[in-house]
Amino acid sequence: MKVQTLPPQNGNFNLANYEETAKNFNWADVEKEFSWHQTGKVNIAYETIDRHAENPKKKDQIALYYSDANRDEQYTYEDMKKMTNKAANVMKDAGIQKGDRVFIFMPRGPELYFALLGAVKVGAIVGPLFEAFMEGAVKSRLEDSEAKAIVTTSELLDRVPVNELPHLDTLFIVGDNVSEEEGKVDFLTRLSSADENFDIEWVDREDGMILHYTSGSTGKPKGVLHVHNVMIQQYQSAKWVLDLKEDDVFWCTADPGWVTGTSYGIFGPWLVGATNVVRGGRFSPQDWYGTLEKYKVSVWYSAPTAFRMLMSAGDELIKEYDLSPLRHILSVGEPLNPEVVRWGEKVFNLRIHDTWWMTETGALIVANYPSEPIKAGSMGKALPGIKVAIVDDQGNELPPNRMGNLAIEKGWPSMMRAIWNNEEKYNSYFELDGWYVSGDSAYMDEDGYVWFQGRIDDVIMTAGERVGPFEVESKLLEHPAVAEAGVIGKPDPVRGEIIKAFVALLEGNEPTDDLKEDIRQFVKKGLAAHAAPREIEFRDKLPKTRSGKIMRRVLKAWELDLPTGDLSTMED
Ligand code: WTA
Repeated sequence: MKVQTLPPQNGNFNLANYEETAKNFNWADVEKEFSWHQTGKVNIAYETIDRHAENPKKKDQIALYYSDANRDEQYTYEDMKKMTNKAANVMKDAGIQKGDRVFIFMPRGPELYFALLGAVKVGAIVGPLFEAFMEGAVKSRLEDSEAKAIVTTSELLDRVPVNELPHLDTLFIVGDNVSEEEGKVDFLTRLSSADENFDIEWVDREDGMILHYTSGSTGKPKGVLHVHNVMIQQYQSAKWVLDLKEDDVFWCTADPGWVTGTSYGIFGPWLVGATNVVRGGRFSPQDWYGTLEKYKVSVWYSAPTAFRMLMSAGDELIKEYDLSPLRHILSVGEPLNPEVVRWGEKVFNLRIHDTWWMTETGALIVANYPSEPIKAGSMGKALPGIKVAIVDDQGNELPPNRMGNLAIEKGWPSMMRAIWNNEEKYNSYFELDGWYVSGDSAYMDEDGYVWFQGRIDDVIMTAGERVGPFEVESKLLEHPAVAEAGVIGKPDPVRGEIIKAFVALLEGNEPTDDLKEDIRQFVKKGLAAHAAPREIEFRDKLPKTRSGKIMRRVLKAWELDLPTGDLSTMED
């Protein structure tokens, strides 16, 4: 296949010379950018907000633009310092202490950002939850982490099964007319009267800071723990890859319920001291182009599904908007098709830069840089200072152009430090001697560009969101009509993959379309809308191993009309 190479962009970029930097770079030098290098006092929330608020030249710069259908607000760095201090005071007054797990479960809005950074200022470990999660998804995460508190809205409170969570003793409720009682705090009223000064809890750089639950192919979602030290790489990658400068207006479209929405929706841009845009509400092409125009966004980080949806809205719509300040576009989460890159060049007159990383890696690992050529379809090259390789199943590095496990040399600054309560799972990532094995397969060409091939396990990436088939199958099995369920990702031109479920019914149930819809709604209400299968197919029986494990690869082969491969372990 012929590779299309796009020449470097013109401009004055933070990473001017990739090769030189990669040769000479030392992570220890990055620490010197932070005041804790001198004071020894660490807290990522301080470096994110307060140090800019304390700088007379920066304190009045807009840190956050927020808007949705009903609100339109802006906050300077000084405002953000005060509001996060207030949130920290509300939490501390309610007894939240260093190391406590505090979950944030609410739609995007300024209060989400105050609460999240406020909790970090207290020294708590924050657990962001996507607002679309339903009761089952919320419960398993709070249970596993033994969460002590949750910040949520009056509307979402129904989905928090308070009585089934013995460790959960404080609810911070965002809403109108919240009546306070034991363990229930009216967050907004308290916030408005709280002191705007706060003594930050200084922590160790290796202390826990954020817990993102993410899906694997087996078991319940796992809690990926990052520590304050994650800032080193979030900061440096925001400089090199996002190419952020202090006068940039940056928009990361991801929700903070996912790692992209915290590492690059909160920490990266503010560590650098840029202006951050947050847009609430749902996606529409008009709304998104309007947001880029309204805030004069200069750097934009989004995902292939969103680009494909914009693409399908046609090339006329975009002409109604003035997007001239936009100078740099990036993508993450799923394969970025060369076709989308070409569309980007046509309508924005800019390249779309693909990037690769994972919840577990904490920050960007592989990327395309504005000063480097892009090979359309490749995720780019390793971040300077990090060794990425393709290894075989024994941990041997493979030569160029050979497909294998995409792996990272252990010890990069933003590496996860634990899987909550599950040391065995954590260790399983590092079984190949010094390598972190990502679960993705890829190859690297002779120029160091990495080409994504697929997931090695059965994890589904739908519209950029990572869904574990096991969690969906477990929910399906709770439906009264379902006997067996197997879930796969089915290729989809817009969403990358959609979730397809194969279901065997219990005797006495008719395989009707109404029942399909009922099952779909059941998963949607029990887990989350994005986890509900878009397609359900009834089968009398599902392929299983002799030990009773559903063989998802056989389901996938059926679906895609591929050879089923070795069936020796399948039951009769
Ligand atoms: C996938 C998201 C192809 C990959 C930051 C990875 C990608 C998983 C890309 C992590 C890309 C991420 N091209 N696939 N550029 N970026 N992925 O933890 O399978 O939600 O392992 O982190 O997304 O998903 P996660």
